[in-house]
Amino acid sequence: MSDKISDKIYNPPAAAVQGAHVSGMAAYEALCKEAETDYAGYWARQARELLSWKQPFTQVLNESDAPFFKWFEDGRLNVSYNCLDRHVEAGRGERVAIIFEADDGSVTRVTYAELLARTAQLANALKARGVKKGDRVVIYMPMSVEGVVAMQACARIGATHSVVFGGFSAQSLRDRVQDAGAVMVLTANEQARGGKSLPLKAIVDDALADNSCPTIRSVIVYKRTGGQIAWVDGRDEWLHDAVAGQAASCEPEWVEAEHPLFLLYTSGSTGKPKGVQHSTGGYLLHAALTTKWTFDLKDSDIFWCTADIGWVTGHTYITYGPLALGGTEIVFEGIPTFPDAGRFWQMIQKHQVTIFYTAPTAIRSLIKAAETNEAVHPKNYDLSSLRLLGSVGEPINPAAWEWYHQHVGGGRCPIVDTFWQTETGGHMITPLPGATPLVPGSCTLPFPGITAAIVDETGNDVPNGQGGILVVKKPWPSMIRTIWGDPERFKKSYYPPELKGYYLAGDGAIRDADNGYFTITGRIDDVLNVSGHRMGTMEIESALVSCTDLVAEAAVVGRPDDTTGEAICAFVVLKRPRPSGDEAKAIAKQLRDWVAKEIGPIAKPKDIRFGDNLPKTRSGKIMRRLLRSVAKGESVTQDTSTLENPAILEQLGQAY
Ligand code: WT7
Repeated sequence: MSDKISDKIYNPPAAAVQGAHVSGMAAYEALCKEAETDYAGYWARQARELLSWKQPFTQVLNESDAPFFKWFEDGRLNVSYNCLDRHVEAGRGERVAIIFEADDGSVTRVTYAELLARTAQLANALKARGVKKGDRVVIYMPMSVEGVVAMQACARIGATHSVVFGGFSAQSLRDRVQDAGAVMVLTANEQARGGKSLPLKAIVDDALADNSCPTIRSVIVYKRTGGQIAWVDGRDEWLHDAVAGQAASCEPEWVEAEHPLFLLYTSGSTGKPKGVQHSTGGYLLHAALTTKWTFDLKDSDIFWCTADIGWVTGHTYITYGPLALGGTEIVFEGIPTFPDAGRFWQMIQKHQVTIFYTAPTAIRSLIKAAETNEAVHPKNYDLSSLRLLGSVGEPINPAAWEWYHQHVGGGRCPIVDTFWQTETGGHMITPLPGATPLVPGSCTLPFPGITAAIVDETGNDVPNGQGGILVVKKPWPSMIRTIWGDPERFKKSYYPPELKGYYLAGDGAIRDADNGYFTITGRIDDVLNVSGHRMGTMEIESALVSCTDLVAEAAVVGRPDDTTGEAICAFVVLKRPRPSGDEAKAIAKQLRDWVAKEIGPIAKPKDIRFGDNLPKTRSGKIMRRLLRSVAKGESVTQDTSTLENPAILEQLGQAY
C-alpha cells in the first residue's frame, strides 16, 4: 500500500471508445463545456431525456433557501414507474431484469414484467396495512429479489425507505428505526451467507423489544430459510401471506421531485449516525445518468455490482440506476469466498458478465487468496465476456489496480475508479470508459456537470500539485437534501461558513500538476474507511465506554491495513489494573464482542491496546496524532514534552 499513484497511463482501447455513450475525450469535454455554459440547461436536458415525468418540471434549480437546494421542484414522477412500468410499456417486459444467484449457487431469472407485478403486489400490501406517502419503512433484508422489490414498492407508494445493512446489530437497528420514526420493518427470517444461516428476524425482535419502537405497527417477514423464529401475533406477518391475493397492478403515487425517496444512515465524525435524505427526481437522474455514462450500460450488457443493498452503492447501482435504464443485472446473495475464493470469477464466467463493479478490499483479499491457492486465480476462468471493470468505496492502490486490470480484465478492460459518497447519491469523480485515459490510483476527472475542486481552509482554490480540501462548488441534482430531523447538523457538516458555500466532502485530495487528475488522499475528519465501510471513531469510542463494567476511557484511531484499507485500533483504559498476556487477550475478545453487539461485527477493533491512562496534553486533550503513530507501529517522533504521563507510551506498544 506504499504505492500511492502510478506514472503509467492507459488510453481507452478502441473497442471501448467505439459506440460508447460518451465516445472520446472531445465528447467528454463538450459535455463539461455545456454544463459550464448553461448549468441549469444542461441538467434539465438530461432530466428530460432520461426520466419519464408525469408532470414535466418548469423550474430546474432553486437556490433561494441554500444550502437546502431544490431540483425540478414542480415536476412529478414516480421512481418505480421509471424503473419498471416504462420498460414494460415499451414492449420490453420479457427482458430479464435480475439474474439472482443464491448463496448455494442456484439461479433465478426475473423479467421486468414479473418484477413490476411483484412490486405492485407488495405496494398494495403496504397500502392495505396503512403505509402512506411520506411514511418511513425500514428494510432489514438479505441480498434478494425481495429486497429490491421492497425498495421499489416503497418508491411506488411514496413511502420513504431506510435500508439497514444486515450486518448491523439490534442496537444499531433500533437507533435507526427510532430516529426515522418508521411505521414498518420488512425483514427475512434468516439470511444465507457462506453456507450458514444467520438471524435477521431475531435481531428485529430484539431491536423492537420492550416497546422501544412504538411507531412500528407491523413487521413483514420474507421466508428465506427453513429456520424457526419467534412470532409476535398482531405485529408479524409472512411476506407470502401479505401479498397473497393482492392485485398485480398498482397505480404509482406521483410524487414531487423533491419527495424523499430514501434515508440512509451513515457515520459522521461526531455523534450518532446521520440519516442522509435523498430526493426522488434529482437522485434518480444521477443514478441513471452515471449508470449510462460511467458504466456505458447497453442492452447487450450483463451488469454486476457486488455491493449490498444496505449501502448506497447497492441503492444507486443495483436497485435504481440499472433498472431505470432497463438493464440486466446480477443480484448475488453470498460472499466472495464461498464455496471458495474463485466465486466471483466463476460467476462472471457462468453469467457472461460484461461489467463488473466491486471494492478494492475485495480485490486485495482475492489477490491474497489466489497467491495461496492457485486454483482460485482468475486465470483458471474464462473471463472474456468482461468489457469494463469498476472500483468503489476507497482508494485503489496501483498494485491492486494493475492486478485487476491484467488478471481480471485481461489487459483489455478499462477500470473506472469511481469516487463518491452516501451523500452524493452517485459518481462524482470518475473516468468515463470510452473517453478518459486512466492512471492507476487516480479517480481522474469530475463527471460532466460536477464542479469538484480543491481549496484551502478558507475556500480559496489551491493550485494543481498542491493538496487541499475536496469540495463541490455548485449544488448537483443527486446531492443530500438534509440530515433527517437535523437540518442544523446538515448545514454544519457539509456547508461550513468558511468554505464560501461549497459542499465539503470530508476528504483530502490533490490534483496532478500536469493533467489535473484527482487523487483522493483520505478523510480529513474522524471517519474511518474499513473495507469500504464507513465508521466514525467517536461511535466506536461511545460503544466501548458504554461497557461500563470494564471500560473507563477509550480512544479509537485508524491505521493503514494491506487488505481492509484501514483498520480500527482502540486504546483502552480499564476500570481495573492494566491487563497483560492471556488476561489481556480475553478482555480484548470481550470488548470486540461488545462492540459487535453495540454496532455490528464490522466495527470490531482489529487492535486493542491497554494503558493505565491515555496520552494527553497538560490541558487534557487526547493526543490522537500520537496514537495514530503508535497504532502504525512507528517510533514516536512527535514532541512528547507536553505529555502528562510519557511512561504510558511503552504500555501502549502491545496490541491484543
Ligand atoms: C467515502 C464515502 C461511494 C459509495 C461507497 C462508500 C471514500 C469512496 C472512493 C474512491 C477513494 C473513495 C471516501 C468517501 N471513497 N470511493 N473511488 N477513491 N476514496 O460510500 O460509505 O459514504 O463513504 O469513501 O473517503 O468520502 P460512503
